Amino acid sequence: MCREARGVARGSSRLPRSRLAGSAPCNVRCGRPRLRAATRYGGAVLYVKRLAPFPFWATSSDQENLKAQEEIGASMKILIIGSGRIGGLVGKLWAQAGHQVRFSSRHPDNLDALVAESGPNASRSSIEEALAFGEVVLISIPYGSLQGFGEQYGSQLSGKIVMETGNPYPQRDGDVAKRVLDSGVGMGHWSARWLSGTRLVRAFNSVWDQTLAREAHRMPPRVGVPLAADDPEAAEIVAGLVRDAGFDPVLVGALSRAREFDVGTPVYATNMSGPEVRQALRLPQAGTASQ
Ligand SMILES: NC(=O)c1ccc[n+]([C@@H]2O[C@H](COP(=O)([O-])OP(=O)(O)OC[C@H]3O[C@@H](n4cnc5c(N)ncnc54)[C@H](OP(=O)(O)O)[C@@H]3O)[C@@H](O)[C@H]2O)c1
Repeated sequence: MCREARGVARGSSRLPRSRLAGSAPCNVRCGRPRLRAATRYGGAVLYVKRLAPFPFWATSSDQENLKAQEEIGASMKILIIGSGRIGGLVGKLWAQAGHQVRFSSRHPDNLDALVAESGPNASRSSIEEALAFGEVVLISIPYGSLQGFGEQYGSQLSGKIVMETGNPYPQRDGDVAKRVLDSGVGMGHWSARWLSGTRLVRAFNSVWDQTLAREAHRMPPRVGVPLAADDPEAAEIVAGLVRDAGFDPVLVGALSRAREFDVGTPVYATNMSGPEVRQALRLPQAGTASQ
């Protein structure tokens, strides 16, 4: 869907300006032309608004408005690894928001119903076939499998923005969960170790899938989804994707701070709104100060 129709300025996933080439009409609602970027950013196809030439008499606020309009909405290509309760749901929300989503599984034939529910922007394949799809990846598998997954496939995800959702539960993940919980360093540390070389963002680990399913795109204040990353650009892109899925991204800080929303913390599995998460984590409220 054309971002102009959906309102680019609401702060969904947007990327820096790029060179332009060619044009294609918006096929949804607004009917305005859109330009297709000559380059791809992280596998995303970029679209920008067609702008009037900049007038010499424009005031600085005009210039700021135009600069804001120049921001690019991106229909991103997103790979889902672990198309279960979280991966399946969040991937469906992104596909419905206009992103290209590839669901993957060790048993891809089982994903037909999910792909059908998600609409024309969704497809499915094996994990091996899917690894080259896009530059943004959501990994949502049992935490006890993450190290083995990283050893097998991590090199193929090198340089990609990877959102990772896992939580350690000893009853499901056995000794791995006990080891990482006892370490006291937080899941950001372990996920980064097992997915080294990726632009890792801890995200979507702290909200129950049924809450996400029920509350996506509700009237504000929206459900808060805390994020932590060492790569600020990756964090910003993921924040836009969180908005596109219908939630309020809460940028907590570096990966080491992911422990503030790990399993067992006061904000974990609480259904808190974004403002409530910020208050609980003593972060500035959105729009009041830089984080
Ligand atoms: N459910 C929640 O409310 C929730 C909320 C936040 C975070 N989380 C965390 O997010 C992760 C996923 O949770 P979930 O509830 O979505 O689990 P789920 O419904 O069981 O889905 C997990 C998916 O992972 C895939 N998988 C399992 N083992 C794998 C392996 N070794 N390699 C590759 N893929 C594998 C399975 O897909 P195939 O068998 O089709 O390959 C399965 O569909 C967990 O770590 C969980 O703790 C869950």
